[in-house]
Amino acid sequence: MSLMDKHVILEKNATLLLVGSLLVVTVGGLVEITPLFYLENTIEKVEGMRPYSPLELAGRNIYIREGCYVCHSQMIRPFRDEVERYGHYSLAAESMYDHPFQWGSKRTGPDLARVGDRYSNAWHVQHLADPRSVVPESVMPAYAFLKNKPLDVKNFSTHLVANARVGVPYTQEMIDNANMDLVAQADPNADTTGLEARYPKAKLGDFDGNPAALTEMDALVAYLQMLGTLVDFKTYDEVKNQR
Ligand code: HEC
Repeated sequence: MSLMDKHVILEKNATLLLVGSLLVVTVGGLVEITPLFYLENTIEKVEGMRPYSPLELAGRNIYIREGCYVCHSQMIRPFRDEVERYGHYSLAAESMYDHPFQWGSKRTGPDLARVGDRYSNAWHVQHLADPRSVVPESVMPAYAFLKNKPLDVKNFSTHLVANARVGVPYTQEMIDNANMDLVAQADPNADTTGLEARYPKAKLGDFDGNPAALTEMDALVAYLQMLGTLVDFKTYDEVKNQR
């Protein structure tokens, strides 16, 4: 009996064929997947990414609480129409400190992955308080109450501790200074040397147009203004093209 004839045994026995197929698929799967767990170079290192500053993190919490992700994605796909409208396509590394990530699957409004620096703080405050005053045809709900809601700063460091537990590289120094950094980032008179060293490129100063109070509007605008601004894409593309 030649080797090919022996195949008949497999083909005539359903159970044996099933076991055999499973074996083949398992081996094939392992060959493809196992190397990914060991190859460091499958993880792209991207210059510029850092964990969120406490104020940005507080803003992100509000973004999630208010369900902004229901209408807004934060993931620019590598298609020409998206890149021309929103900017450089999103990199995996840009959401590596997001727990949970905000990629989203629904765009009632535009993608927000690179909305940082696109408008002034005052524009954001006006738009969030009354979207139709700046975009008459907008269907976005108004969030004016955020201007009057004091930001809850009590024990904010626990939010950093929780993120550190799931792998965000917050240092002990960042955790120890969290409550202070949270207030300092939105205070135009605060000494922010430590904050700037811990969180490079953090936007500073009053965000909501009312320097006397630290509100949820401050935090949300601080978060929106940093979205997509950490990675320098001119250098990123130059380095990539040299490879
Ligand atoms: C019901 C859907 C909906 C929800 C919920 C929503 N938005 Fe919007 N958003 C829109 C639409 C539609 C637009 C486009 C029209 C406009 O600019 O108002 C928009 C525009 C924006 C823009 C301007 C983007 C750009 O590039 O011009 C920002 C910033 C924004 N939304 C932030 C938020 C934030 C923050 C929240 C949560 C507090 C939120 N949105 C909740 C629908 C929504």
